[in-house]
Amino acid sequence: MTVDDPTSGGTGSESGEKHVVSVHTPDQVVLVVDFGAQYSQLIARRVREANVYSEIVPHTISAAEVAARKPAAIILSGGPKSVHVEGAPELDPGVFELGVPILGICYGSQLIAQQLGGTVARGGSGEYGRTVMHLGEPQPSAQDDSLLYGLPSNQPVWMSHFDAITEPPPGFVATASSEGAPVAALENPERRIWGVQFHPEVHHTPHGQDVIVRFLHDLAGCSADWTMANFVDDAVADIRAQVGEGRAICGLSGGVDSAVAAALVHKAIGAQLTCVFVDTGLMRKNEGDQVVETFKRHQGIELIHVRAGDRFFERLAGLTDPEEKRKGIGELFIRVFEDAKGGITDARYLVQGTLYPDVIESGTAHAAVIKSHHNVGGLPDDLDFELVEPLRTLFKDEVRAVGHELGLPDEIVWRQPFPGPGLGVRIIGEVTPDKVALLQEADAVVREELHAAGMDREIWQAFAVLADIRTVGVQGDERTYGYPIIVRAVTSEDAMTADWARIPYEVLEAISSRIINEVPGVNRVAYDITSKPPGTIEWE
Ligand code: XMP
Repeated sequence: MTVDDPTSGGTGSESGEKHVVSVHTPDQVVLVVDFGAQYSQLIARRVREANVYSEIVPHTISAAEVAARKPAAIILSGGPKSVHVEGAPELDPGVFELGVPILGICYGSQLIAQQLGGTVARGGSGEYGRTVMHLGEPQPSAQDDSLLYGLPSNQPVWMSHFDAITEPPPGFVATASSEGAPVAALENPERRIWGVQFHPEVHHTPHGQDVIVRFLHDLAGCSADWTMANFVDDAVADIRAQVGEGRAICGLSGGVDSAVAAALVHKAIGAQLTCVFVDTGLMRKNEGDQVVETFKRHQGIELIHVRAGDRFFERLAGLTDPEEKRKGIGELFIRVFEDAKGGITDARYLVQGTLYPDVIESGTAHAAVIKSHHNVGGLPDDLDFELVEPLRTLFKDEVRAVGHELGLPDEIVWRQPFPGPGLGVRIIGEVTPDKVALLQEADAVVREELHAAGMDREIWQAFAVLADIRTVGVQGDERTYGYPIIVRAVTSEDAMTADWARIPYEVLEAISSRIINEVPGVNRVAYDITSKPPGTIEWE
């Protein structure tokens, strides 16, 4: 079914529904207690890379709450504070008495020392960055329940601490040291508590993942059953239990999150799912067709394809302020979506591709709105539906793995992040159909050339921006007065910070000459060499 730019339609559902969320939580969980570390999410991801499910919990969690979760193990994260300052976060001492295996990392290891009777000295100069750590004598044997068993006696580790443990608590032994950390690792295998001053979760610690695996599998006895194949089976069962015989709808954006959520729910409930794809006219070249091709033809999912480009261009006419453009696109998107889903009067369930990092971050007050994000997948939850959010426990890399598992094509599974307002925020100034067509061509060249150079997976995002100025050039002895295209390509881990990608000159040259030759109206190409901060990834 294809709906062309609908302008009417009811909401078709009763208000006041309770929101229910479909989340699969495996029986075996490792709790990562967050003491405010920048690396807590990374720790949780590393645990999952060891095929063990993990969740992040606040440090205010009580021993009773921990016990109720029956965790297989607990990891105490690092944190920005000194254990000596007033109000420094502590752990409910009862947690140490539960008999659950505990690994403290950085601040977490200092808390073990401090709370169990050891000594943490106020910092001298601290220790930051790469350091060599030496294992103590005698080195651990296979029989010891030592965390560091099997590691080289001297090895590089990543440190980031000001205070240092100088005396382990009674019953603990120090098993390693470095120049700035007399106790770089401590342990009490009888009490099943281990601690490391260094950061095993970062890539700069080459044996870091070995330490995490040793703790989880050998010492805590966790089984390695968190796999995406198991996840799919369990999630399918959960979705069926939640939705029963009901009807569900899903807003597709073409992005990986909503795509995987839709494919997963379709596997669970088949024809009870209808997807709505609002083509804003602001997508990349051929992207709309590819979404329809993938979901309707290959996956056999019922899809309402709304071609709403004209309405978006009408709404954007005369707008030049980035925030006004973003708000206009976001509001119209919701209206168009509501109109489309009005045709499905009996749908009670709304599928969303919410991920675990969104869940962790929601609830934390945002300091300042840099840009008001409009998320195609993130429709407001007052849309009178029960929510089905099967990816709520997953990190992005896990979502991609589920996408593979479900047979989605690489172009979707590996699609770069794309802003909800689409090319609307990559055209500086007023957005018109002509400018979108021009930018789509230039953008396709950027992506094609990076793909040909084998660079697309190492680059977080790469795209073209159309500036709102024109410059003088000369082509074939003729003076030209055309638009410049700015090429933007960044590397990043999470989009919070980014660096401009060091693309080889030859690749930049190929991009430049192809854009000039193939995209009429463009006579100049510039490369943006700004990191984030101070720039943002998008230009608006
Ligand atoms: P900035 O430009 O703030 O972007 O550095 C950070 C990341 O967010 C993406 N982005 C958006 N994603 N809705 C989205 O879903 C939006 O409105 C939006 N604006 C920016 C951007 O592409 C980058 O990955």
